[in-house]
Amino acid sequence: MNQPGIPRFGIWLPVYGNWAGTDPGRERHDASFDRSRRLLLEAEELGFETALLAEHIINPLDNNLDQLETWTATAALAALTSKIELIAAVKPTLFHPVVLAKLALGIEEISGGRFAINLVNAWYRPELERAGIRFAEHDERYAYGREWLQVVRGLISGARVNFSGKYFNVTDYTLRPASRHRARPRIYVGGESEPARNLAAELGDVFFNNGWPVGQIRANIADVARRPRSGAPLRFALSAFVIARETEEEAQEVEHELARVGQFQDLTHLLGSADPKAVMFQSARKYPHIGTNGGTAAGLVGSYDQVAQRILAFQEIGIDTFVLQFQPFDEEQRRFAHEVIPRVHRLNRFQAVSAAPVALAAG
Ligand SMILES: Cc1cc2nc3c(=O)[nH]c(=O)nc-3n(C[C@H](O)[C@H](O)[C@H](O)COP(=O)(O)O)c2cc1C
Repeated sequence: MNQPGIPRFGIWLPVYGNWAGTDPGRERHDASFDRSRRLLLEAEELGFETALLAEHIINPLDNNLDQLETWTATAALAALTSKIELIAAVKPTLFHPVVLAKLALGIEEISGGRFAINLVNAWYRPELERAGIRFAEHDERYAYGREWLQVVRGLISGARVNFSGKYFNVTDYTLRPASRHRARPRIYVGGESEPARNLAAELGDVFFNNGWPVGQIRANIADVARRPRSGAPLRFALSAFVIARETEEEAQEVEHELARVGQFQDLTHLLGSADPKAVMFQSARKYPHIGTNGGTAAGLVGSYDQVAQRILAFQEIGIDTFVLQFQPFDEEQRRFAHEVIPRVHRLNRFQAVSAAPVALAAG
């Protein structure tokens, strides 16, 4: 997936319009395909290696706001890019697993082997309930998601699937073409609860953490890593919102400014529509932040050197992929690529050299 010691950096495309609220002077709400296309092409140029498209059918901040559709956008972006991985989030209740597996293999084909899914088990009740789709209780959503992923994983691997469960019955089903590039598209799992952790350990390739402080993530990784699993070791990714500047003081000033315009960090109206059992929101109350999915709570706010060092601290506990939010997006993803990524590489090289055995000169 990536070379040992070299983390992968990625971006959250702004499918909701932006990540820290509309700020008239700096960033307006723009969930257009054109904007995501532009940002992604530049991210690819800048050396980002992955990009996530979250999935919501209606915008959870305000249903009247634009929301970019995940799967159509991902397919189109797959045709326009050539190197970067594209991760599309999916909520199992929205697609039958056979249909979703076919879409996934379609984008795998269009992208030439760069496609991944992020399985997420839903928290925003109105999205389903107002469409007349049952919003099952938390653990039942995961039981459904587990059967769903068993079917999808088999089909995207090119296997002939016979599955008989509580929710799905699939008989003698094979999808062609399977991936022409590898065994199958990668599977990320995003969620924090017990069943989310079991699901990632059993059927995922990457456990996708929300951006909580390093101590919390260390505990989460240790807990997930000891669960039963077969096959290659589970990998760990982290979501985070970055504010990096020359000095810590400048970064903190920006943080205060973004907190003033923020939408996601005031959880009051979101919590009214969220599943109270969603562990993600329980953690969100514990760690106030800007952005979504942990955002600034990961601590990637500070001088360029501080942010690079904190990334290294996450690497040391097992994170190898960082999927990032910025605001304003264009300017800040550029700044991150120019100022922070080279520092992370330097720190990694320095660590590798210091860890290497010292060759004693023959005397
Ligand atoms: C990295 C990451 C990305 C996520 N993306 C989405 C998303 O695109 N759409 C969505 O509805 N939920 C998303 N979620 C939220 C999960 O659905 C959420 O964790 C779940 O609904 C609550 O489950 P939990 O109790 O296991 O945390 C994401 C979670 C993580 C960690």
